[in-house]
Amino acid sequence: MAELLAFDGVSAGYGEAVVLDQLSLSLDEGKSLAILGRNGVGKTTLLETLMGNTRVMAGSLRWRGQNITRWPSHHRVHAGLGWVPQEREVFPSLTVAENLSVVARKGPWNLQRVYELFPRLKERAGNYGNQLSGGEQQMLAVGRALMTNPSLLLLDEPMEGLAPIIVEELAEAIRRMCTQQGLASIVVEQHPVLTLSMTDQAIVLERGVVVHQGASRELAQDAALLERLLGVEMAH
Ligand SMILES: Nc1ncnc2c1ncn2[C@@H]1O[C@H](COP(=O)(O)OP(=O)(O)OP(=O)(O)O)[C@@H](O)[C@H]1O
Ligand SMILES: [Mg+2]
Repeated sequence: MAELLAFDGVSAGYGEAVVLDQLSLSLDEGKSLAILGRNGVGKTTLLETLMGNTRVMAGSLRWRGQNITRWPSHHRVHAGLGWVPQEREVFPSLTVAENLSVVARKGPWNLQRVYELFPRLKERAGNYGNQLSGGEQQMLAVGRALMTNPSLLLLDEPMEGLAPIIVEELAEAIRRMCTQQGLASIVVEQHPVLTLSMTDQAIVLERGVVVHQGASRELAQDAALLERLLGVEMAH
């Protein structure tokens, strides 16, 4: 399977502060990766580094064999990196349909396909961004990223603050997107059990260092390890 992306001994942070410490990982085309870890360990910083928004002090980033370490952010978006920020950034004064259309780029994802994935967005097509519920905004944020037709979708806590029924709806949509459409993704989440059920591979971070790396299914079945790494109780 072809390598899509790799971090090779990457140290990165903000100003003088080193957040990621010699981090290495790789992801193959069409695969999904969970980034787990407690608050403040560097999960968002990892995504920001991938998008070119942090200072890289050591190591390199590879995208389809090219060294992209010094590429500006817009260049990376153009190369196929699709980003859904932790703060949902939908345009409040545009309708759902306009929010989606305004970022559209050529490729398999279009309005119709996004509406098939999120029927709720179709029902809200004429509503303005600021008239949506939190869950609808989150679906719109994911839909907008898809409209840019990325090769890799980066999701930063897509489930944050959502009602359980919406969480399940969104999780199912993300699963379908990856398994049926072969879209690669990196999912940062606070809910390890759910996230592991949506991904192929997982890494666990602790203070900017990878402390576990392996198949999501195996980690999901190892209650003792999950408890030790993340303090998760396996009640759910
Ligand atoms: N823009 C910034 N400037 C300086 N330091 C930052 C900045 N953003 C994050 N940090 C610091 O980097 C460290 C990692 O933060 P990061 O947001 O990557 O963690 P996280 O794992 O995403 O946390 P959470 O689960 O709370 O979202 C923290 O110590 C944080 O204070
Ligand atoms: Mg974060």
